[in-house]
Amino acid sequence: MRSRRWPQPCAPWDDSAVSAERVMDPAVGTDEEQFDRTLRPRTLADYIGQEQVRENLAILIEAARRRGEPVEHVLLCGPPGLGKTTLATIIANELGVAIKTTSGPAVDHAGALASILTNLSRRDVLFIDEIHRLNRVVEEALYPAMEDFAFDIVVGKGAGAASVRLPLAPFTCVGATTRQGLLSAPMRDRFGAVYRLDFYTEQELLRIVHRSARILGFEIEEAAAAELARRSRGTPRIANRLLRRVRDYAQVRADGRGTMEATRAALAMLEVDDRGLEPLDRRILETVITKFGGGPVGLDTIATSVAEEPETIEDVHEPFLIQSGLLARTHRGRVATELAYRHLGLTPPPGPPQQTTLQL
Ligand SMILES: Nc1ncnc2c1ncn2[C@@H]1O[C@H](COP(=O)(O)OP(=O)(O)OP(=O)(O)O)[C@@H](O)[C@H]1O
Ligand SMILES: [Mg+2]
Repeated sequence: MRSRRWPQPCAPWDDSAVSAERVMDPAVGTDEEQFDRTLRPRTLADYIGQEQVRENLAILIEAARRRGEPVEHVLLCGPPGLGKTTLATIIANELGVAIKTTSGPAVDHAGALASILTNLSRRDVLFIDEIHRLNRVVEEALYPAMEDFAFDIVVGKGAGAASVRLPLAPFTCVGATTRQGLLSAPMRDRFGAVYRLDFYTEQELLRIVHRSARILGFEIEEAAAAELARRSRGTPRIANRLLRRVRDYAQVRADGRGTMEATRAALAMLEVDDRGLEPLDRRILETVITKFGGGPVGLDTIATSVAEEPETIEDVHEPFLIQSGLLARTHRGRVATELAYRHLGLTPPPGPPQQTTLQL
């Protein structure tokens, strides 16, 4: 199991009993893994949204199944909590093969990779999470494994050293990354299929909320489910997490049903605002606006100001703020949009209309 990627500094300004920040962190918490597994769709038919990716994968899987071959290597990119791990397990399930899961930082030397690869059976799926974090040596050892299903080992030392090629069972490598930009070009080129997952629409999230509520045996009103979907930052993991919090609230403070009242109260306790923004999102916008005159300001400066890791901001918060049209990324830094001012109840500066078009 991988540990949480982002350290959780105890923010001096946040003295609320319930840490709303962590509720919105799409990274998975250890106590949540069981919950994640319960709610994880197991087949493509069960997987909601990402139509394009689903359709492409369905063809890829069916073609491989008919030929009795492994599926091509697949790279899944996109922000945390959108369903990369879920898709990797679905590929294995659909083929009826085993999945071995590891992650970039976990495979820290070529020997570790060799032992994983030599334990794979024909057509198995090897899932490498955070593949952009593989070190160079391991990455280079992975190339022939992916291309030729072979692993090169060096036997002996010095002048007498010789390279021996170990054949491997043909397998499918599924890589997942939140940062496609950090993946080396040769690594990316080894994948026959590269899919980018996008944020989910409200309608898709609504279906996910209903599906999860059904699995959990939790009765939720239509309007309350829609409210959750709207405030889930386009992310299934957050939708599921908020649903769980609403269920807790309803059981402890109300009659156990997911009413609109219970939902609103639970979300207010978690400091999730109308757009689904959490305290740290708002603080990022506030910082850009009040400390840096609306920007442009560099990511590292923002990170220092809000006492967060730059990676957390870039991976978790920024994509959603940009997608919501609250923040824009320009070549000179991040800029708060007019919408951001209005969202925080501030007056946008006068002058020429601000750049609200997004440079993604
Ligand atoms: N398309 C979907 N339909 C229904 N539920 C989904 C879907 N995608 C994801 N989920 C739910 O969201 C949870 C998180 O998804 P998953 O673990 O696959 O995300 P991830 O992209 O691997 O995130 P990370 O980058 O943090 O590893 C899953 O447990 C599952 O319950
Ligand atoms: Mg994952």
